[in-house]
Amino acid sequence: MSTTQRSVVLGVSGGIAAYKVAQLLRLFTEGGFDVRVVPTHAALEFVGKATWEALSGHPIASDVWTDAHDVPHVMVGREADLVFVAPATADLMARAAHGLANDLLTNVLLTATCPIVLAPAMHTEMWENSATQANVATLRSRGVIVLDPDEGRLTGADSGKGRLPEPQALFDAAVATLQGNPADLAGKRVVVSAGGTREHVDPVRFLGNRSSGRQGFAVAAAAARRGAEVTLIAANVSLPTPAGVKRVDVVSAQELHDEVMQYSVGADFVVMVAAVADFRPVATTDVKIKKSRTPDPIALELTTDVLSALVEHRTGGQVIIGFAAETGDADTSVLEFGKQKLAAKGCDVLVVNDVGPDGAFESATNEVYILDVPRADKALIAEALWDTVAGRS
Ligand code: CTP
Repeated sequence: MSTTQRSVVLGVSGGIAAYKVAQLLRLFTEGGFDVRVVPTHAALEFVGKATWEALSGHPIASDVWTDAHDVPHVMVGREADLVFVAPATADLMARAAHGLANDLLTNVLLTATCPIVLAPAMHTEMWENSATQANVATLRSRGVIVLDPDEGRLTGADSGKGRLPEPQALFDAAVATLQGNPADLAGKRVVVSAGGTREHVDPVRFLGNRSSGRQGFAVAAAAARRGAEVTLIAANVSLPTPAGVKRVDVVSAQELHDEVMQYSVGADFVVMVAAVADFRPVATTDVKIKKSRTPDPIALELTTDVLSALVEHRTGGQVIIGFAAETGDADTSVLEFGKQKLAAKGCDVLVVNDVGPDGAFESATNEVYILDVPRADKALIAEALWDTVAGRS
C-alpha cells in the first residue's frame, strides 16, 4: 500500500501511556503519513504540546476555539483518512459513547466519517468495570474499532489487563484498518510458529540460529486482524506479542514440536515459520564444559521434523504451510530448491525465503516465492494475482 499523503488524526487522552504514543507518532511520520495530533487537556499533563508539535510538524490544539475561523471541530475530522486514539482512557470512551463534544477530540470523533480506532489503556479495575465495558460495547456496536488492551506491567509495580499495546502493534493495527481488513479468517483457528529454537549444550551454551521472529509475528498479527483465533508458538523471540494473539514461549526444537502438535489439533491453518534446529546434542551437561577438556566433537542427533509430523497427523482439511530459508548454489536456484523441499515435506504451501547475500535474518523485509501445490483454476489464479498486487499502486 502506498502510505504517502494519508492523513491521520492521532487523538491522545490523559493517561500515562501517552508517553508511548510519541513513538507511535514517529512510526506514522516515518511511514509517510500526515499526522494531526489532537491531545485532550489532560493528555498535555503527561506529554507537552512541544513534543507533539515537533514530532508531527503541525501546531496542535485541544479546544475548538484555537483557529476558530478554520472551523477545526468539523474540518479536522472530515479531512482524516483515519482517527486513531491512543491511549483511550475510560473517561474519553465514556464521553465518546455518550456523544459529548466538550473538547476538540470529542468533536472530531463526532464529525469523522473515516474509520475510528480506539486503543484503551487504564488500570485493570477501570477496564473491567461494567460502565467501561458497556461504553466499549456501545462504541463497537456503532462501528468504532476498540482494540483490546494488553496484559502486563501497568503504571506502578502492579500488572494486569489494561496496558497499551506497543507502538509497533498500534501502528500495524492502524495500517491494517486503512487497508480495509478483510474478515476472511473469522471463525478459523490458526497456529503459527516463529523465531529460532535453541539446543542447549551446557548451562551457558546453545546451538541456535539468527531468526528474529519478525516474519512469524507478522503472519500471526495479520491472521488475527483478519478475524482468526491465533496461537503463536514463539521460540526465543524478544518482540512484543501482536494484539489479540495467544502466545506460548518455547526454547528447544522438542518443546516447539510438543506445543505445535498439541495446539494444531483441530486448527484450520498451521504455519511453520520458525527456524527449527535440525540437530541437537545427544547429551547436555549440567556443568559448564571446560576448555581443558579433550576437544572431541560434541555428538549430535537429528531433531523431529515438525512440518513432516504435522503432515503425517493432519486433521480434517487442515492447511499446512512451511517456510524455507534457501540460498541456492552453483547448480540449483533458490526456486528449484524450494520446489524440491515442497515435494519432500508434503505440505500444502511453501513460502521460499531467499536468504542469499542480502540476508533476510533480522531484517524488516523478505524476498519470497510462494509455492502452492494444487493446480488451481485459472479464475482462482487471477484472483490470487490481484490479491497480491492490488494494494501496491
Ligand atoms: N522444520 C520443521 N522441523 C525441523 C526443521 C524444519 O518443522 N526440524 C520446518 C520449518 O519450520 C520450515 C520448513 O521445515 O517451515 C523448512 O525449514 P528449512 O530449515 O528450510 O528446511 P529443513 O527441513 O531444515 O531442510 P534443510 O535445512 O536441509 O534445507
